This record gives sequence, structure tokens and C-alpha cells, in this order.
Amino acid sequence: MKANENIILIGGGGHCKACIDVIETENKFQIIGIIDVPEKLGQVILGYKIIGNDDNIPDFAKQGYNFLITIGHLGNPNQRIKLYDIVKENGGLLPVIISPIAHVSKHSSILQGTIIMHHALINADAKISENCIINNKALIEHDVIIEDNTHISTGALINGNCRIGKNCLVGSGVVVKQLINICQNTIVGAGAVVVCDIVNSGIYTGIPAKKKDNE
Ligand SMILES: CC(C)(COP(=O)(O)OP(=O)(O)OC[C@H]1O[C@@H](n2cnc3c(N)ncnc32)[C@H](O)[C@@H]1OP(=O)(O)O)[C@@H](O)C(=O)NCCC(=O)NCCS
Repeated sequence: MKANENIILIGGGGHCKACIDVIETENKFQIIGIIDVPEKLGQVILGYKIIGNDDNIPDFAKQGYNFLITIGHLGNPNQRIKLYDIVKENGGLLPVIISPIAHVSKHSSILQGTIIMHHALINADAKISENCIINNKALIEHDVIIEDNTHISTGALINGNCRIGKNCLVGSGVVVKQLINICQNTIVGAGAVVVCDIVNSGIYTGIPAKKKDNE
């Protein structure tokens, strides 16, 4: 059966391809095109055309389309935030996208613009805010709070009662011990283990995670 709602994707890179796979698997939204730079107009990504650039977002948004920001976030979320705000200001819709092969507890909450990708597990009373990426195979345990614009990367484990501030990148395979707070604008490098609160923004790596020296 064909999906009955339309959606426009903003950003046509690698993360977009992973999002397309989730959207196609969910089969709730029909992708009508992708927004990217003007030079890519007319190019095709996994069968979907680039139909415009950032300047066209207000017009599409005013027509009431659904959107997903499909620009990745590997440390700098500014472009994701800027375009998300443009969609919102112009009345575009930002649905939650959930892979049917993720498990999302009925006791959790997820706000608009967020994507829950394949095999993610969102446990009871977790709260995930706007414009977040919960990437493939990530675990968000019970009572965790994830604030706006944060990316929890592939295979990261966020244990019970943690709070991850806004605009963070938690890298692939990171383990965050239970009851940990990570402040906004923090990057935790791939493979790190976070065992105490992070109260100063910056880049943290290693086991146990420590602030990188060269900052
Ligand atoms: C931590 C990170 C942000 C650092 O990026 P960067 O500032 O560009 O760092 P560089 O690649 O220049 O490396 C600088 C140093 O840090 C080390 N380093 C980089 N990433 C590291 C990591 N995850 N853990 C431990 N050390 C790391 C490098 O080996 C290098 O060490 P050296 O100075 O002794 O040679 C990045 O490497 C990272 O882990 N990003 C997350 C990637 C990820 O999880 N993607 C998920 C996609 S879903």
C-alpha cells in the first residue's frame, strides 16, 4: 500500500540515505523530493529528486508539507537548527519518524522533528526532544532525557536517568553510565565511556571520557 502523506527531506548526504531507508520501511510518508545546494538541482538520490535549495524552504513550508532535516550532525548542529527553525517559522510540519523495527515504549515521549532509526530502543519514561537523531541501534534507557538537536549515534548506550543537553553529539558506541548529566554543546567521541557528569562543553574521548587536551 502506498504511503498517504508527503514529506520533503532537507539535506541530501549520507545521513539522508539512512533516513530514506527508515521512511521507506515505515511506509507512512511518500518522499516527494530533497532540498540541497543549487548545484545539485535535478540530481537523484536513491530514486528521489533534488527539487530545490534552502531559499525554497519557506514556500514549501507555507504549503503545509511535512519535513525532516536529513543533514547529519557530527559535531556542529548549526545548519540543522537553522533550517529546522525556518521550517517551523513558515508553518511546515515536522513529524516524528519512527522505524517500525525500533522499539519505542508507549510510556516514552518524542517531540517533533526527531527520527528514531532502525533497531533503536527507547525505554519507559524516556523523553526525547525536538530535531534529534536517535541513530541505528542506539539504546535510550528508562527515564533518560535527550534535549533538542542532539544526535545519539549508532550503537550508543545511554543508561537509566541520564540527561543529555541540547546540541550534543554522542558518538558511535559510547557508553554513558546511569544517572549522568552531560551539558549542552558537548561532543563525546566514538567509543568513549562517560562515568561522571560533564559540566563544561567541549570534546570528550576515551575510557573514562576526559576532555581533549588541545581544546
Ligand atoms: C572525537 C572526535 C569528535 C574528534 O574529532 P577531531 O577533533 O577531528 O579529531 P582528530 O581526528 O583530528 O584526532 C585528534 C586526536 O584525537 C584522537 N581521537 C579522535 N577520535 C577519538 C576517539 N573517538 N577516541 C579517542 N581518541 C580519538 C586521534 O587519534 C588524534 O590523536 P593524536 O592527536 O594523538 O594523533 C571524533 O574523532 C569522533 O569520535 N567523532 C564521533 C564520530 C562518530 O561517532 N560518528 C557517528 C556517526 S553515526
